[in-house]
Parts: sequence; C-alpha cells; structure tokens
Amino acid sequence: MERAVRVPSGDDDVARTAVRRLTLTGFRCYARLRLDLGPEPVVLTGPNGAGKTNLLEAVSFLTPGRGLRRAKLAEVARLGGPASWAVAAEVVSAGQATAIGTGWSGGDGPDKRLVRMDGQPLRATADLGRVLPVLWLTPAMDRLFVEGATHRRRFMDRMVNALDPGHAERSAAYVRAMRQRLALLKEGRRENAWLGALEAVMAAQGVAVAAARCDWVLRVAPMAAEGHGPFPGCGLSVSGGLEAALREGASALGVEDEFRDRLAAARGLDASAGTTTEGPHRSDLEAVHLAKAMPAHLASTGEQKALLIGLLLAQAKVLTQGRAVPPLLLLDEVAAHLDGSRRAALFDVLVGFPGQSWLTGTDAALFAALGDRARFLTVADAAVTGESDSPSNED
Ligand SMILES: Nc1ncnc2c1ncn2[C@@H]1O[C@H](COP(=O)(O)OP(=O)(O)OP(=O)(O)O)[C@@H](O)[C@H]1O
Ligand SMILES: [Mg+2]
Repeated sequence: MERAVRVPSGDDDVARTAVRRLTLTGFRCYARLRLDLGPEPVVLTGPNGAGKTNLLEAVSFLTPGRGLRRAKLAEVARLGGPASWAVAAEVVSAGQATAIGTGWSGGDGPDKRLVRMDGQPLRATADLGRVLPVLWLTPAMDRLFVEGATHRRRFMDRMVNALDPGHAERSAAYVRAMRQRLALLKEGRRENAWLGALEAVMAAQGVAVAAARCDWVLRVAPMAAEGHGPFPGCGLSVSGGLEAALREGASALGVEDEFRDRLAAARGLDASAGTTTEGPHRSDLEAVHLAKAMPAHLASTGEQKALLIGLLLAQAKVLTQGRAVPPLLLLDEVAAHLDGSRRAALFDVLVGFPGQSWLTGTDAALFAALGDRARFLTVADAAVTGESDSPSNED
C-alpha cells in the first residue's frame, strides 16, 4: 500500500508513533467526539463512568483483534443509537501519516469489523498491525499471573502478534481446524479422510504458532530479564510440547509430522474427552520474579503489577528495535496502583518512549510528576475538554 506523506519524526532519529486525530461516532457513550493530539502522552482524567476507558478501547480498535475489552462488536454501538459505530484516526507511524478507519454496522453481520487504510478496504487486518501496533494494560489484567492459562496465553499471543503480524491469522487457522476436527469426532466419525486433512492443517499451523512464540521469547526475554528502573526483571518462558521440541532444536518439519501422528492417534481419546487434549492451544506463558526467584503468581499484588509493567516495557522496547514500529501504549488506571516513585519512573520512561502513551485515572494529581510533558484532558459525561486543571501537588 502506498503511503506517501512523510512526516518529520521530531527531535530525534527514532520514528514516532502517535494518534494525531481521533474521531468517534456512535462509539459506547460517545455520540460524536473529535480529538486533535500531539505526540506526547495523553492523560485522561475524570470521574468513574465518564468515558475514559471507552476512549482507550476506541484506540485499541485501531489494531487487529477485538479491542481491549474483547467486546462483541454490537455491544460497542451506543445504547439508544443506531446499530453501528466508527472510529477514524490519523496516525503517524514509521515516519508516515496514515488514515485508519474502522467500524461495525449491524447489516454486515455480528462479527464483521470493517477496516480501511487510507480509504482502501483492508482484507487482511494483519496489515493494520504492521502500521500500528498497540499494547495495553487494564485493571482486568491485574490477575493475569494467578488466573487460568487462557488469559495469559492470549496476552502472550497479542505480544507475539505485535512482532509477527501473521501470528493471529495462523492461530485462527489452527483453532478453526481444531474445532472442525472435534465436531467430526463428536459425531463419531473417526476414520474420515477429512480428519486427516484437518490434522495436517493443525500440525502445520500449530508448529508455526509455537515457533512464533519461541522467537518472541528469544527476543523479549533478555529485555524483560533486565528490568526497568523500579520494575523488576521478569524471567519468561513458554510451556507446551511443540514449543519445547522446537526449543530443543528439533526441525519444524519433524515436529509437525510427529504432532500430526499424535493427533491421529488421539482421535479416540479426544472424542471421549470432548476436547483436543494436546496442542499449542494449551501452552502457557510462565513468568518469574527474577530477583526473588519467585514464580509470578506467588508475588504480591503490587509486585505482580510491577512485573507486568516491566514486561510491557520490555515488549515495547523490542518493538522499537530494527525496522519495527514503536507501539502505542494504553495504560488504563495504571498510575493509581503505583507508589509515587514508581509512578514518576514510569512517566519518565513513557515521555522518552517513541510510541505515544495513553493514561487514565480518576484523579489528575496522580499525574503531577508529568508536569508539562503530557497532554491533559478532562473526561466528563462523555465529553472531553482541553487542558484539565494543571495538577500541582503530588498526593
Ligand atoms: N454501548 C454503550 N452505549 C452507551 N454507553 C455505554 C456503552 N457501553 C458502556 N457505556 C457506558 O459508558 C460509560 C463510560 O464508561 P467507561 O468505562 O469509559 O468509564 P470510565 O471513565 O473508564 O470509568 P471508571 O473510572 O469507572 O473506569 C459508562 O457509564 C458505561 O456504562
Ligand atoms: Mg475505566
């Protein structure tokens, strides 16, 4: 895709990533909203229910996936309004300006999110991920290390996808084949030729999924282990049979053949279990608080939050290396969980980071340490107004 408009990257050589204009139509509590922004961090403050997280969610729809709430598309449409919504943005990334538009209209079906880049409809949303990676932390992720593997795996796969934008499509192809195979098995069809074809797809896509995760760990783990100021070093690894075999140096083709054979052998088992007993849909992200040699799920609440922030910063830094595009960082209510010095350290990192960050909180005073280094906006009753009262004193 031709994206011809070059934008000066600012005061240094690193190309910055930022949303420069955001327009919402019929999105959650917003009938219509337009924001014009600079590259600096955006701080949204206002009372509970004002519309802060909704704004972050709108930004999260500028990248592939289901947004930071994993909402059904119909839920996002403004209650009492038309059954449609739209988010339009002018973003700057890799030194180029791009217009991104996305939205949903009830008439197109419940799961069809339309995406346009510079006016052209996009068939593969992976292209969107290449132009605008977005990472986020939300309060719902506070229990990431203690809850079941599903959320952690999803979190990991989102990060893998930011480095390797084909990952989500390969994961989806794996899951589609897995579901079709299980449906056949549940119908009692164990010798169907179609089963063999589905298992071949699962093996090929599954090994590609596992390999992308291993590559991600190789790149992000060293950065995560270093820690960032007050955010502790985090040891990262991924569990799972395919991942382990690849890590031990087995050839991808060999691992694929073996996995396909095991799937064929497990037809009876999977049929009676009513589930696919083995595969990369069961892998898990394992994290360790390195300084304490403590598995992350045993760390304190505050330590887990700090580990998570450190991990996000490591991922963000890896995304700025080489020819990669620095991600936008959406940090919902992160400041409220940190003590003053950690907060200040985080702000310093964010101000220096080449991807625009978006922060929310109920209290502007939490962001005082940002001084004049951020754009402060007040959100109230689904309206956003200019500079909020300048936060003068740290609590
Ligand atoms: N589809 C929708 N249509 C209209 N309003 C909605 C829709 N979905 C959610 N809302 C409302 O939007 C309002 C703002 O929600 P949001 O989560 O953005 O608040 P917030 O400012 O982040 O608040 P908090 O500080 O409590 O996190 C809420 O009152 C919520 O119920
Ligand atoms: Mg909120």
